[in-house]
Amino acid sequence: MRILVTGGAGFIGSNFIIYWLKKYPQDTIVNLDALTYAGNLENLKTIEKNPHYEFVHGNICDTQLVNKLASNTDTMVHFAAESHVDRSIIDAAPFIKTNVEGTYVLLEAARKNKILRFHHISTDEVFGALKLDSKEKFGDHTPYNPRSPYSASKAASDHIVRAYHTTYNLPITISNCSNNFGPFQFPEKFIPLAISNIIEGKKVPVYGDGLYVRDWLYVDDHCRAIDLILQKGEVGKTYLIGGLTEDISNIKIIKKILRIMGKDDNQIEYVKDRPGHDRRYAIDWSTIHKELGWSPNYNFDQALEETIDWYKHNSIWLKRIKSGTYTEYYQTQYGK
Ligand code: NAD
Ligand code: TYD
Repeated sequence: MRILVTGGAGFIGSNFIIYWLKKYPQDTIVNLDALTYAGNLENLKTIEKNPHYEFVHGNICDTQLVNKLASNTDTMVHFAAESHVDRSIIDAAPFIKTNVEGTYVLLEAARKNKILRFHHISTDEVFGALKLDSKEKFGDHTPYNPRSPYSASKAASDHIVRAYHTTYNLPITISNCSNNFGPFQFPEKFIPLAISNIIEGKKVPVYGDGLYVRDWLYVDDHCRAIDLILQKGEVGKTYLIGGLTEDISNIKIIKKILRIMGKDDNQIEYVKDRPGHDRRYAIDWSTIHKELGWSPNYNFDQALEETIDWYKHNSIWLKRIKSGTYTEYYQTQYGK
């Protein structure tokens, strides 16, 4: 395969490239990434000299560049996005530009160049919010109800991807996954932010009452699911990927992290809630399990320990990220 990965310098994209080249060393990957605040080539240090890997610094909204790259590609795996809900609340513009327009540019190039597969990475957040303590889960037939600028832009992109299949017969697949965690995640997201604050002896900000629920997926399990969809998935189909079977609240996760890191609950700080905060996400991932034989390899506690360990052993990586514009964002979001 000759794969064009977009957003491969980000968290999930970089894990995916490393995973793929290890498992399929004969394949070639071109990584198109604009290197926004979230893109970090340090994530790819272990494979940067691999002759089957090439990095292209560029924007997915650049039609000419995307067309050129697509002409030499058979498969596209589209991760590039603005991905953080809190940033979309501060400024939605880059979310509309990259997530909606950028996806359209890629689809047009895929169509013109007769790409064999366009796989679109999306999120469970397109489905909106579930009630706390309900047994309901997002499933194959759940209607879209996005509630943040981030999730609305991802929902728009999903619809456009599906329309290109229906209208132009473009061979697409989509996956909507839950909250990922693991190595190389930018410390603006909940789990790495908590770990890095604890490492620095700072308090951990918990929004509202802390009783919000997410479905958590270890990034390696996510990469394996994408692999199966690319190899055996049905063209035109959407697969839901989640990591859990039982609910776990944000506050329980923070307490687990504090315990693993040998700290007490005094390090928790309840802060102002996020506007329009989705109460609960839970995914029914039985279809990908039944049809492609996927289920998570990691249980949550084991993956959390490995993630904490990774951040502890990669303090230079963390320090470099935090020396950039991170402090500015942190102060805007959390105050001094
Ligand atoms: P990330 O923010 O860590 O990385 C995004 C990458 O895209 C960065 O390398 C960035 O430089 C690049 N990028 C942004 N705009 C670009 C543009 N215009 N052109 C080219 N590159 C651009 O994101 P992530 O957490 O790795 O998420 C990857 C994908 O998975 C996204 O589509 C996201 O919506 C989806 N997703 C993420 C999660 C999660 O928990 N992280 C959950 C569900 C779905
Ligand atoms: P986040 O990692 O931003 O992912 P998403 O909003 O896309 O689900 O947040 C996960 C959960 O953690 C969400 O309920 C918001 C909450 N949260 C906090 O309580 N404090 C924080 O500092 C952050 C970043 C998130």
